[in-house]
Amino acid sequence: MNVLFVASEMAPFAKTGGLADVMAALPAYLARAGHDVRVVIPLYDSVDTKKHTFEWVMDLEVPLGQHRYQTKIFRVGTAPPVYFVHCPALFARGRLYTSDGDEHRRFLTLSYAALLLCQRLDFAPDIVHAHDWQTALLPMIIKTLFARDRRFANTRSLLTIHNLMYQGSFPAAVGPDTNLSSVAHLFHQDLLSAGRVNFLLQGILYADGVSTVSPTYAREIQGPELGAGMDEYLRARSSTVVGILNGVDYDEWSPERDRFIPNRFSASDLSGKEANKEALLTALGLPYLPGTPVLGIVSRLVGQKGFSLLGGVMPDLLRRHGFQLVVLGSGEPALEDMFARLQRAFPRQVCFYNGFKNDLAHLIEAGSDMFLMPSRYEPCGLNQLYSMRYGTVPIVHRTGGLADTVRQWDPRTGRGTGFAFEHHDDAGLRWAVQAALATYRNPAQWRRLIDNGMAVDFSWNVQGKLYELVYNRLTAS
Ligand code: ADP
Ligand code: GLC
Repeated sequence: MNVLFVASEMAPFAKTGGLADVMAALPAYLARAGHDVRVVIPLYDSVDTKKHTFEWVMDLEVPLGQHRYQTKIFRVGTAPPVYFVHCPALFARGRLYTSDGDEHRRFLTLSYAALLLCQRLDFAPDIVHAHDWQTALLPMIIKTLFARDRRFANTRSLLTIHNLMYQGSFPAAVGPDTNLSSVAHLFHQDLLSAGRVNFLLQGILYADGVSTVSPTYAREIQGPELGAGMDEYLRARSSTVVGILNGVDYDEWSPERDRFIPNRFSASDLSGKEANKEALLTALGLPYLPGTPVLGIVSRLVGQKGFSLLGGVMPDLLRRHGFQLVVLGSGEPALEDMFARLQRAFPRQVCFYNGFKNDLAHLIEAGSDMFLMPSRYEPCGLNQLYSMRYGTVPIVHRTGGLADTVRQWDPRTGRGTGFAFEHHDDAGLRWAVQAALATYRNPAQWRRLIDNGMAVDFSWNVQGKLYELVYNRLTAS
């Protein structure tokens, strides 16, 4: 199959979260499986252009209403080729996402450039795979403005929702910039009357298939609590909404091969893990105290991730149980302040590294004993999957992909891979952390729990096949 991926991030080039990891791995899996896959992403100014060979492919002009963007397309690699849309006027902003007045045009340019590129390369996609609001207008654009191009005559579109809360909702005045004014009747009319257009909603309405990144989240977003106003539209398309868990690229994320950790290890010999724990604590300026559990966090610090619970519970838990906490993340000032305060109050127990640092993320996975994800909602979540592979026991709120991937430890049967609390409140978090700490004090049980997690397989060889099934179903319809 010919598959076109268009997205706003991809590791190792540009990353703020899990979408980048998915983009690094799923297209590569599909290319290995024999499909002709092309990936199109923006050439942000943060992309390290010295690390890879960027080949100029063509110049493309992208008209958006009154605006004209002169872009250059560069290509990196071949399996699959990744095409970068170079347009400093749009993508040299010092960060991937902005709240600038032209945010919609930044990703419309990406979307149109991808389609124009297909025309110029004479690449006829069987599947156009769009991701999140940034590329969610693609299905509608293909069905209207590109409908007469034979290259798109048989194209089917799949929209994957990685996070329903980010919707690309703009004032209706952006309408002309979409080039879709001639088919304005296809925009959600009540919303339009209320003066808004919502890119993600248009994708949900017009994509041939809609997917999200776990079965539980696929169900949750069809209800009012986590539906973010989209639930009725998702319910209306229920038969085409599927949940496919993200896979893990075990070449990047496994303790046997990790390039970023000082000591490699495996399930049969965990001594390297202990050495990584010492290296982690030393690097962060905390004392290494053998036998003291280390709890790790690596995350965007935003409301979704549920860390506001920690303010009430963590000081007491740290005082009572004497464990250590290492946190890597950045985001909302209130959450950054909370972690900074914890560090000041517990200087020998807590280290907060405020920032984005890939090698430290790997070292925290490798050197911690437990990993905390108290997310309010979590479409899939990748760090709990990485944690299990590194023998780092996840403590999670039972929601979305966390509910689908972390099985509650049961000391009677010896089954389970972590600790999952039901209610997102102080008591839930307290229970889960204390249960983990109590199990840690029982070495035989703890070892069993680690082994269970390390044996779990979320490789793309398994998850990628599920996308192929969806593609097959879409192209057959
Ligand atoms: P989300 O996409 O919602 O942020 P995921 O769990 O799917 O959550 O993916 C997060 C990814 O981003 C993981 O690969 C994680 O290691 C990485 N990450 C998050 N915050 C940081 C950070 N501060 N430094 C380095 N990597 C980070
Ligand atoms: C989003 C979600 C996260 C998911 C990632 C990749 O950022 O918040 O749960 O793992 O996308 O699909």
